[in-house]
Amino acid sequence: MSSKYVLLGSVRPAPEQPLARPGVDRASIGALVRKFYSRVRKDERLGPIFAREIVGDWESHLEKMTDFWCAVILKSGDYQGRPVPAHLKLEDVTEVDFEIWLALFRETAAELFAPETAAVFVERAERIAASLRLAMFFRLDRAAPARGR
Ligand code: HEM
Repeated sequence: MSSKYVLLGSVRPAPEQPLARPGVDRASIGALVRKFYSRVRKDERLGPIFAREIVGDWESHLEKMTDFWCAVILKSGDYQGRPVPAHLKLEDVTEVDFEIWLALFRETAAELFAPETAAVFVERAERIAASLRLAMFFRLDRAAPARGR
């Protein structure tokens, strides 16, 4: 094999493996989701946004979010949704709101899981938050200096 292919092989990230740790299963992930959203709902900034968007049926939102986190952490095939469009329509959400979301998530994960496991949840949440923020707030015309002036 030529060295070009060896180099390409080495820069490609390894596929993520399911997190196999005792106590990390659908039941504990569901508990994290429920505790996290009960905090979100009490938060003075995030609470009203969720109350407005999720009218009535919290149970199906909590199940969907449990599917989502099982897909992220256990690589289960449970989640089939599309997070980006769901957030793009939230026009009043700001970048600061993401900091609040992440702070509540870190707090909840640290309460329910061992530190090394909580760190995996938080790292994934931060990565997904970064890509949602990019989709929601990044504007090429503001990011790059104008050309040709
Ligand atoms: C300030 C930050 C955020 C706010 C205000 C927010 C708000 C919401 C709301 C209101 C929904 C329900 C939308 C709907 O059902 O139509 C939703 C869905 C969802 N959110 Fe967030 N979110 C935030 C950050 C995040 C982050 C950081 C993640 C992932 C780590 C995430 C993952 C999801 C997922 C997976 C859904 C379900 C999308 C679907 O398949 O319908 N959200 N979010």
